[in-house]
Amino acid sequence: MSKSGQFLKFLFHSLRRPGRVGAIAPSSAQLVEVMISNIPRGYTGRVLEVGLGSGTLTDAILRRLPSETQYCGVELDPRIASSLQNRFSQARILLGSAADLSQLLQGQKYDRIVCSLPWGLFSSALQDQILRELVKSLTEKGELSSYLYLQTVWLPGGATFLRKVLGYFDSLSISPIIWSNLPPARVYRFQPKSVVKLKA
Ligand SMILES: C[S@@+](CC[C@H](N)C(=O)[O-])C[C@H]1O[C@@H](n2cnc3c(N)ncnc32)[C@H](O)[C@@H]1O
Repeated sequence: MSKSGQFLKFLFHSLRRPGRVGAIAPSSAQLVEVMISNIPRGYTGRVLEVGLGSGTLTDAILRRLPSETQYCGVELDPRIASSLQNRFSQARILLGSAADLSQLLQGQKYDRIVCSLPWGLFSSALQDQILRELVKSLTEKGELSSYLYLQTVWLPGGATFLRKVLGYFDSLSISPIIWSNLPPARVYRFQPKSVVKLKA
């Protein structure tokens, strides 16, 4: 499908479920690049994507992996999940909520988690539930990338997420604002809290 076709399809999904999709356009090339800059071409670890949307990130991730078996995607919207499963027929795409991640993944852990969830739209309880599941699904030396739209940071859900996430993960980096994205966003990268710190 052409880029404009993908944009229209995504916009349709987004208008149908504004409280879930939380975006108006697929991620820009620059946002994609920053989100997966820790997944070099030929990367041999396991990669989990959560919240697939238009599949822009899915496509970029799969291009970097030697084998589709290293990839798993989790998506809540059945239409998005099935359309992406048709598009990326060899990839494993699971229908379900990030709130049930460890059950969906049957305890499998991942070295990179690329997360595009609309954090600002979630209740505080759901943020906690998903963050706990992400911790369980990341390897000890793994990394979690997620982004927040600029305006989300000023909304109660966005501010709560930023406060909360540091209770679950250590911050590795925060990108400059990516102005080419619609809307502009920052990419946040996290790592699991070390065992020593958790015991302290
Ligand atoms: C902002 S969109 C992702 C945009 C994507 N990065 C792109 O470039 O098109 C968020 C996605 O997360 C999905 N989503 C929302 N809540 C979810 C949940 N609890 N578990 C899994 N996916 C969820 C939505 O259906 C939507 O596909």
